[in-house]
Amino acid sequence: MSKKEVIVTGLRVNNDLHIGNYLGAIKPIVDMAQTSNDSQINLFVPDLHSITTNFDNTKLQKLIIDNIKTAVAFGLPIEKSNVNIYRQSYVSAHSELTWILDCFTGYGELSRMIEFKEKSAQIGSQSVGVGLFNYPVLMAADILLYDADYVPVGDDQRQHLEFTRNIATKFNSKYGDVFNIIKSTADHQEKFNRDQAPRIKDLLNPAKKMSKSSESNKGVVFLSDKPEEARHKIMSATTDSIGSINYNHDKQPGISNLFDIMAMLSNEKLADLTNQYSGSDNYMEFKKAAADIVSDFLSNFQQKLPTISDQQIIDKLQHSEAAMNEQANKKLYAVQQAIGLR
Ligand code: ADP
Ligand code: TRP
Repeated sequence: MSKKEVIVTGLRVNNDLHIGNYLGAIKPIVDMAQTSNDSQINLFVPDLHSITTNFDNTKLQKLIIDNIKTAVAFGLPIEKSNVNIYRQSYVSAHSELTWILDCFTGYGELSRMIEFKEKSAQIGSQSVGVGLFNYPVLMAADILLYDADYVPVGDDQRQHLEFTRNIATKFNSKYGDVFNIIKSTADHQEKFNRDQAPRIKDLLNPAKKMSKSSESNKGVVFLSDKPEEARHKIMSATTDSIGSINYNHDKQPGISNLFDIMAMLSNEKLADLTNQYSGSDNYMEFKKAAADIVSDFLSNFQQKLPTISDQQIIDKLQHSEAAMNEQANKKLYAVQQAIGLR
């Protein structure tokens, strides 16, 4: 019997989420969970990853529950038995497998991780913790424990997926087929029906990605922004002085970013939108159309969010965590056996 297809993703909780997080990480798994009854869908909270950078212990619990609530408000069907939600720190095999994988990971390999280089440069070398350095190994454990096939994440996480593939391949070549190897980037693109993982850009500086650590909040649409506030941000987005609207990320990155946002938030085809606006010189009308889509999207989400109760989330978490501990412990045992610890 062939194995069940497994899709795993996690979303770090440190701050307010923005539409880049939604489009890169939440939407693909919600879409998949709604349409698939056969695949195992795992959406977990990487709470142990959250403590690799500054965090507020008085807020962490709320952030963890809100993180899952957000996905449910966006339509994650937690009533389905093939959908699992869990907290990383409630499944101890994640930490245990991380240690074992650490012993198969080169120091040099982790030093090359772009996210580590960027984040540690921001923090300053004095206060960079070993946990931040080790981040991708824990991420590999998150993926490998469940025999994941697909891991929908934004473009900036792709290097961590490559790392996961490499470490699993290296381990398997020495100890037999213990780990399932995740699908290639091309397979991910096909599965999630997109040319490449989306990378939504900062509205004020479209050369950079939209990020919670952006210099100014004005370039970022947070999920908690009031719809009017978001409308204002879209209307103030940096475009260009070319005078004609065209979808061209090199020459008109601001306009192209708005096209991407519009298409993905409204589920309209990008080609239909570009057909509608290409060649027009009416930047204002185009931005208004984008602002309408973004503000409608936020109003719908913000109306839904308070209707979801904590208890509903906690009941499902506990149910999934029991099942995930069982599954993850089996894989951990196979690894321990393979290397002679059992
Ligand atoms: P941030 O840059 O805001 O700190 P994270 O690094 O916490 O975001 O990323 C959380 C998830 O959201 C990851 O899967 C990441 O790839 C995705 N993501 C973050 N920013 C974007 C973006 N601008 N466009 C698409 N996906 C994004
Ligand atoms: N690193 C991811 C992020 O920045 C979060 C994450 C941790 C993750 N472990 C994972 C995503 C495993 C997918 C699979 O958001």
